[in-house]
Amino acid sequence: MSVPDCSSESVIATPILRDLTSLPAEKRQPLCKQVGKIERKTFPSSEAFDFDTELKKKNTNMILAFKNADLGELSGYLVYVRMKRLVLLHKICVVQQERGKGVGKDLIHSLRRQLENQGGCQNIQLWVDEDRGPAKALYKSCGFEQIDRCVDYYGPGRNGLKMQLSIGK
Ligand SMILES: CC(C)(COP(=O)(O)OP(=O)(O)OC[C@H]1O[C@@H](n2cnc3c(N)ncnc32)[C@H](O)[C@@H]1OP(=O)(O)O)[C@@H](O)C(=O)NCCC(=O)NCCS
Repeated sequence: MSVPDCSSESVIATPILRDLTSLPAEKRQPLCKQVGKIERKTFPSSEAFDFDTELKKKNTNMILAFKNADLGELSGYLVYVRMKRLVLLHKICVVQQERGKGVGKDLIHSLRRQLENQGGCQNIQLWVDEDRGPAKALYKSCGFEQIDRCVDYYGPGRNGLKMQLSIGK
């Protein structure tokens, strides 16, 4: 009988997820710096998130995905804004070499679980560029549905789709 090869690269490790606020204060600043670096590498400057400003805002939170239990290297992050019955999923990003391994889905499921445990939130909403295929695939696979479309939302020729995931009763 053959024994499965657990050292094989096909074995996908589950990322370790933490809320930024749950981490010791001295760890937060270097992590935000790491996030800023990933952000600038991934998004055009007009869309890059200003973490120093945004994370100081009330109700803005970030879930971090780490490659290992030492919480050193990030594989991704998700930023959201909590309102009363609504959460806006502001940004999600997975580092290039970790994509396609379920990290994005884990981040969204983690947010959903948190909101369900807290209670009171009915919907998660977001806007996505119509041309961002991987992001649309991720949102659809997590159960988001398109509820609106805005022509030129992100600039000339770049349409935005508004998507929603209902989680409350
Ligand atoms: C969008 C993004 C976060 C997806 O993260 P990811 O960890 O690679 O996604 P997952 O591995 O969890 O995949 C989730 C689902 O999306 C699908 N998907 C992911 N990337 C895909 C791609 N390139 N093409 C087609 N489908 C894709 C997966 O097949 C999976 O579907 P399934 O559950 O039906 O199998 C990642 O590609 C990314 O960071 N992109 C750049 C930043 C960005 O566009 N962010 C969104 C706008 S803020």
